[in-house]
Amino acid sequence: MELTVTVNGRAHRGDVEPRLLLVQFLRDELGLTGTKIGCDTSSCGACTVLLDGESVKSCTLLAVQADGHDLTTIEGLAAGGVMTPVQAAFHEDHGLQCGFCTAGMVIAATSLVAEGLAGDEDAVRRGLEGNLCRCTGYHNIVRAVLDAAGTS
Ligand code: FES
Ligand code: FES
Repeated sequence: MELTVTVNGRAHRGDVEPRLLLVQFLRDELGLTGTKIGCDTSSCGACTVLLDGESVKSCTLLAVQADGHDLTTIEGLAAGGVMTPVQAAFHEDHGLQCGFCTAGMVIAATSLVAEGLAGDEDAVRRGLEGNLCRCTGYHNIVRAVLDAAGTS
């Protein structure tokens, strides 16, 4: 099937198999391997990307469902090498540990902050419940999101 998407500001057009998952398209076709596959069953959030600004799990969408839409992956956040407020807060607060969950956490946090849904610790924990950290590093992650939102 024909697919036209904008990814990190660049338009892409191509033919894809109807069964191709969005996460596979991003990683295998576009080489954007910052988006990870953790569980492949919609549980862990490692594959989270922004679809028209909203966080979605790219292992639960077919690539063709993104046709005509705008995607942002972790590679597309820092414009000109300057970290976004969320990325800077993760850096400052040591909110990142492994490279596996971090991209999905940062993307999910970006959407939470942009939507004004990071008002307090409970809201952030609720907002990030679809993103799992296997080493329980949640404390600093939550602090980073609150700092980025200016609600700490
Ligand atoms: S790989 Fe998509 S939610 Fe885990
Ligand atoms: S820091 Fe990535 S799984 Fe815990």
